[in-house]
Amino acid sequence: MKFYITTPLYYINAEPHIGHTYTTIAADTLARFYRMLGYDVFFLTGTDEHGQKISEAAKKQGITPEQLADKNSKTYKNLWDDLNISYTRFIRTSEEVHKEVVKKVFSRLLEKGDLYKGEYSGYYCVHCESYFIPEDENNPLCPDCKRMMSKISEPSYFFRISKYAGALQKHIENSNLIKPDFRKNEILNLIKTGLRDISTTRKNVEWGIPSPTPEKYTIYVWFDALLNYLSGIGYLHNDEIFSRYWPADVQLIGKDIIRFHDIIWPSILLALDLPIPDKIFAHGWWVIGQDKISKSKGNVVSPQKLIGEYGLDAFRFFLLREIPFGSDGEYSDKAFKKRYNSDLVNDLGNLVNRTVNLVETKLSGTIKSATSESKLLQMTRNIYKTYEEKLREISFSEALEEIWKLVSLLNRFLDERAPWRESCNNINHILYNVVCGIKDTALLLAPFIPSTSVKIWKILGMQDNPLEKRFTAVGEKLPDVLKTTKREILFPRKK
Ligand code: MSP
Repeated sequence: MKFYITTPLYYINAEPHIGHTYTTIAADTLARFYRMLGYDVFFLTGTDEHGQKISEAAKKQGITPEQLADKNSKTYKNLWDDLNISYTRFIRTSEEVHKEVVKKVFSRLLEKGDLYKGEYSGYYCVHCESYFIPEDENNPLCPDCKRMMSKISEPSYFFRISKYAGALQKHIENSNLIKPDFRKNEILNLIKTGLRDISTTRKNVEWGIPSPTPEKYTIYVWFDALLNYLSGIGYLHNDEIFSRYWPADVQLIGKDIIRFHDIIWPSILLALDLPIPDKIFAHGWWVIGQDKISKSKGNVVSPQKLIGEYGLDAFRFFLLREIPFGSDGEYSDKAFKKRYNSDLVNDLGNLVNRTVNLVETKLSGTIKSATSESKLLQMTRNIYKTYEEKLREISFSEALEEIWKLVSLLNRFLDERAPWRESCNNINHILYNVVCGIKDTALLLAPFIPSTSVKIWKILGMQDNPLEKRFTAVGEKLPDVLKTTKREILFPRKK
C-alpha cells in the first residue's frame, strides 16, 4: 500500500515563519504515521520560485531572482532538516525536470483545445499572484489580501476550465475530496456561480517558464506551481514512480489557497485525464488578534526562537495540539508556555521521570518479565484504535488527546498501586505494566515528536529504534530483562 502526501510549495520571497512550518509539520506527522502503519510513503515538499512577486522581491534586494531563489530555498530546506521533516523529495520549480513537464502539459492542453488564445483585461494582485475582478473599479482592492491591484490588458492563453465545471461539481459532490466538510459547500457554491476560464500566461513577466507558443510569454506561476505535484513524482519522465504513487492520497494546504487547489487543480487533472487526489485538506490560520501571522503584517512568530527556548518537539507538539486542524488559532506565548508546562512537563515528563526513578530505587534499575494486566492492555488497545481513526481523519489534536488518555491512565495506575509503599510486594509487576504502557506511549508519540520518542525508548533501556517500528508493536511485551539507563529530564519546567 502506498501513501502520497504533499505540502504547498512555499514562496521564496521571504523567510519561513510559524505558518509555513505548520503545514509541513502536519504533513511530516502524517507521513511518519503512515510509515508506521506499513505504507510505502512518498512525501513531497519544496519551493515555488517563479513569478512577478519573486522577481519584484529580488529587485528590491538588488539581486537576481535566481540568486534569491537559491538563497531562500536553501533556508527552507535547512529549516525542514532542523525540524526533523522526513520528506522524500524537496522540489524546486526552477528545476529543469519540472520546467520540462510544465511545458509538455501546456503543449498537450493546447493541442487538445483546452488552452486557447484570448485577451485578458482585468486586475491582478501581485501578492496573491491572482487574477480578480474588483468590487469597486475606483478602488481596486484584492478581495483576498486587500492590497491595491494593478490593471492589466494583455493577450493571453486561457484554460477552458468552464468545460470541466460540471464534471468537477459531480466529483466533489460524490467524493471526500474536499476536507474539512464545511469547505465542500463553499467550493460547490463557487462552482455553481459559474467558472470563468483562467489566464495561464503572462506577457510581461520574464521570471517564469517560457510558454511553448509562438509568442514569448511565460507561464502563469500558479499553473506552473500546481504541476509540481505531478512532476515531483515522475509524471512524463519516470512512469514507474508516477504509476506507483499517483493519485495523491492527502494534499495539505492552508485555507487561503483553496480556490487554486479545489477548483483549478482538479480541473487541470480532468483535462489531463488523470485521476483526482483522494483528499485535499485545508487547515486554518495562525492569527494574532484579528490578523493572520505573515511577514507583511510584521507579526511573525519565529520558529527558531521558540525552538531555542522550548526545544523542537515542544514546538511540533504545540502546533498540532493547540487548535483543531481546519480551524484558525490564536497564537500567544502564554498559551505556548501553559500547554508546555501542563502536558509535556506535568503529564508526560513526570510520568517517565517518576517511573524510572522507582525502577532505579526499588528494583536497582532492572525490570523482569511479568504478566500484563489485561484491563490496562485492553484500554491501551482501545486508545490506539481511536488514535488511528483520528489520524486517518487528519484530526491531530484529537489523536493527541487519545495519547494523553493513556498518559493519565498510567499516572493513575501508578498512584493507585503505589509501588513506593513499604508493604508493596509486587513492585516488579506494577512497574513492568507502567513501563510497558510508556513504551506504547512512545510509539504513539513517534509521528508527532520523534526525538522525544527515541529519548524515552533509550531511557527505558530498549535497544532498537521506535521510529522503525510498526504500530503492531503496541501492546507487545517488553524484552525479558530491561535495564533502564540514566535518567534525563525530558521537558524542563518553564517559569
Ligand atoms: N506558493 C503558494 C503555494 C503553491 S502550491 C502549488 C503559496 N505559498 S506561501 O508560502 O504563501 O504559503 C504556503 C502555505 O503556508 C499556505 O498553505 C498557507 O496557508 C500557509 N501559511 C502561511 N501563513 C500562515 C499562517 N499564518 N497560518 C497558517 N498557515 C499559513 O501560497
